[in-house]
Amino acid sequence: MKISYHGHSVVYFESHGKKIIIDPFINGNTHGDLEVSDVKVDYIILTHGHNDHVGDTVELAKQNNAKVIAVFELAGYLESFGIETVALGIGGQRTFDFGTVKFVHAFHSSSHTDDKGHVNYTGMPAGIIVANDDFKFYHMGDTGLFGDIQLISDVNGPFDVTFVPIGDNFTMGIDDAAYAVNNMLDTKVVVPIHYNTFPDIEVDASKFVEATRQKARILKPGESLSEE
Ligand code: NI
Ligand code: MN
Repeated sequence: MKISYHGHSVVYFESHGKKIIIDPFINGNTHGDLEVSDVKVDYIILTHGHNDHVGDTVELAKQNNAKVIAVFELAGYLESFGIETVALGIGGQRTFDFGTVKFVHAFHSSSHTDDKGHVNYTGMPAGIIVANDDFKFYHMGDTGLFGDIQLISDVNGPFDVTFVPIGDNFTMGIDDAAYAVNNMLDTKVVVPIHYNTFPDIEVDASKFVEATRQKARILKPGESLSEE
């Protein structure tokens, strides 16, 4: 599986000839490296409805005829924009032509603010577990530290990679994220996400690498895990 990071919580991967993007926040992503018009995808997977995660989903889905995989309420909301969706609930797994997608709990909130400033209800936030025959990763979405990270890892792990938010303020900060990595998650590699995009989430990610005893790998926007 080819897998790359594109700033904030944006992860792109290819599996079984399909192209998939998670949380495509492209316009407004100060650490992004993508242009909406250049992104070719078959699927978009969303962790939750916040605008820094839904991002350019509607435009991308329309320009690519891509399906959007999201929690039931967020999927229903996005359908009103005229795009095709697949709805999952927390704990649910579904098989696609690129592999399986399972939604797990994330301890956060979820809503989408539209162009008119209306705040729309978009259901529960999620973490995403993607697996094919030879690779499994966990994208934690936006979350605080919670005890069931251990349960999620025990039941679904081990993971090849886990994408962990470390930016603090809205999600886990470095100390809580390092606790999860060191004590709760069975994962070969950890990639920090959701940091330094905005002043509120500025952290020194090298401290996270130290705190996880070098298990964490900082990926620059556009950098791929398979490049090493
Ligand atoms: Ni959020
Ligand atoms: Mn966020």
